[in-house]
Amino acid sequence: MDQVREEPLSFEKSQNPLAPAEREALLRNPGWGRVFTDHMVTIRYKEGLGWHDGKIGQRSDVRLEPGSMVLHYSQEIFEGLKAYRMPDGGAALFRPDANARRFRNSAERLAMAPLPESLFLESVRKLVRVDRDWIPSADGAALYLRPFMIATEIALGTKPSAEYLYCVVASPVGSYFKGGAATVTLWVSETYTRAAQGGTGAAKCGGNYAASLAAQAQGSREGCDQVVFLDAVERRWVEELGGMNIFFVFDNGTLQTPPLTGTILPGVTRDSLITLARDLGLTVREQPYAIDAWQADALSGRLREAFACGTAAVITPIGKVKGKNRAFTIADGEPGPLTQRLKTALTDIQFGRAPDPHGWRDRLF
Ligand code: COI
Repeated sequence: MDQVREEPLSFEKSQNPLAPAEREALLRNPGWGRVFTDHMVTIRYKEGLGWHDGKIGQRSDVRLEPGSMVLHYSQEIFEGLKAYRMPDGGAALFRPDANARRFRNSAERLAMAPLPESLFLESVRKLVRVDRDWIPSADGAALYLRPFMIATEIALGTKPSAEYLYCVVASPVGSYFKGGAATVTLWVSETYTRAAQGGTGAAKCGGNYAASLAAQAQGSREGCDQVVFLDAVERRWVEELGGMNIFFVFDNGTLQTPPLTGTILPGVTRDSLITLARDLGLTVREQPYAIDAWQADALSGRLREAFACGTAAVITPIGKVKGKNRAFTIADGEPGPLTQRLKTALTDIQFGRAPDPHGWRDRLF
């Protein structure tokens, strides 16, 4: 059993923090994932020693020996969660315990040392407190946290690394889609798949996203915002998008989302929306949905709405779908009312504008 370090993360204030006026200017329009805060977390792991040398310090380059295993065999995992500005000026994370659990599961799938969930929680909570001035107040904006872990043992044999570096960086973000797109257009990838049974589809590892990029690039060339993947066996069942889960809304008011069969990322937003929709008295089915049925239901009007969801995407309505031999529009191609209702229900809890019946807010200050 690995030792878990008992001492708190040490703190060294950044020698080079951004001037308040420059920070405020960036916070007014941060874009997505381009701006980073002054500090970062680093914690190291070594077999036999356990987790050690935990620090919050100035954000700086990560130095890697060229023989570091992550550079060769991609033992890498990450998470995404947000800190939200509360109406009283305080801040809260949303369900960080769910991210801590998923990070541990991802580590196990990638044969990496699992970070204790308590250490994950301490790291993200402390970083937000240190960089609290970086939490945006603009409508819909938040501080996105990106915990990640890489294999740092210097070795070229294919085996699980005996050393790891865990880091957390933070980035103030607005809308994930350019210009806060009202709806997005999807490209159905019939050439590439994202994950197969027994693979890493349910883990949040960089490799899954690397594997999605050729399809994403193909979709971009076709004028689409995101790619939607089908299952790897029959090339028939809708699985998920390049970086988000998907929901469908039918004319009888029911919702449907693909089931977690091991090839789909178990999204925290996905799980929260299933709960919120059921709170609203709606029926939610976790059932497979075929691409041909999706097209037929969109044409017949049985399918009323579809939306993408994730920490980055929040809830983004899907307007159009294109593929090699297909093109169809969801209803009138505009954001649907149930999509909007669920988005309001979710974001009102996240931003502290509504009661939190499930105890999802993790108040930091
Ligand atoms: C998130 O929603 O947090 C993600 O990790 C998606 C990201 C790849 C853009």
